Amino acid sequence: MKPLKIALTKGRLEKSAAELFRRMNLDLSALENKGRRLILPVPPYEAVLAKAPDVITYVEHAACDIGIVGKDTIAEAAGSGGYYEMLDLGFGKCDFALAAKRDADFYAGYNVKRIATKYPNVARGFFAGKGMDVQIIKIEGSVELAPLLNLSDAIVDIVETGATLRENGLEVIEKIMPVSARVIVNMAGFKMRRNEIEEFLTEIEKAKAETI
Ligand code: PRP
Repeated sequence: MKPLKIALTKGRLEKSAAELFRRMNLDLSALENKGRRLILPVPPYEAVLAKAPDVITYVEHAACDIGIVGKDTIAEAAGSGGYYEMLDLGFGKCDFALAAKRDADFYAGYNVKRIATKYPNVARGFFAGKGMDVQIIKIEGSVELAPLLNLSDAIVDIVETGATLRENGLEVIEKIMPVSARVIVNMAGFKMRRNEIEEFLTEIEKAKAETI
C-alpha cells in the first residue's frame, strides 16, 4: 500500500504541524533537512509541502489524501467540494476582520465602499450578509497598504497579533470569524482507506490534546 500523502501548508502552519508530528513519535529527520525538496518521507506517511490554496486543490482532486490548512483558506475556497473538514487543530489562531484607518468613519456616507482583500469570497459573503453593496479589490499580500494609499476604504484580512494593523495606523472595525488550522480529508480516499485515515486522525488528536 502506498503511504498516505499529507499536504502541509508551507510557512506559518508548518512548524506547529511538525510539532504535532513529533508528538505522534514520527521520524521528522527528512522534514527537518528538506533542502528544496517538496515531498518528504515521514514514515509511515509522506508529507507534501504546498501553498495554502494548493493544499485544498491537491486534497479535493485526491492527489493527496489528507491536508493541514487554515480555516481562512477553506472559507475562501467554499463551494469546492470533494473533501471533509475533520478536525480543528487549535493552532494558527487568528480572526477574519474588517479594518480601516484609525478614526475613519467607514459606514458614513452612501457611496459604494471599496474593500481590498486577499479573500474576495469571504469579503463578499460578509457584506452580502449585511445587505451592503461593496466593490471588492483583490490584493495578493500586505493588504494593509490599500487603505493607506487610498485604493480602498477598508480591508478584510486575517488579524493575528494586530501588530500589522497597529503599526500602519489601522484598526479593527468588526471581527468576522475565528480562524485556526484544520485537517481535511479527500472524500473518496476516506471511504477507501478509512482505517488508516482514522488512525492518523486519532493520533493527531491525541498529540493535540497533549499540547493543551
Ligand atoms: C497576514 C495578514 C496580515 C498579518 C496579520 O499576512 O495578511 O498582514 O499576517 O498578522 P498580525 O496581526 O500578527 O500582524 P502574512 O504575514 O501571512 O503575509 P502576506 O501579507 O504576504 O500574506
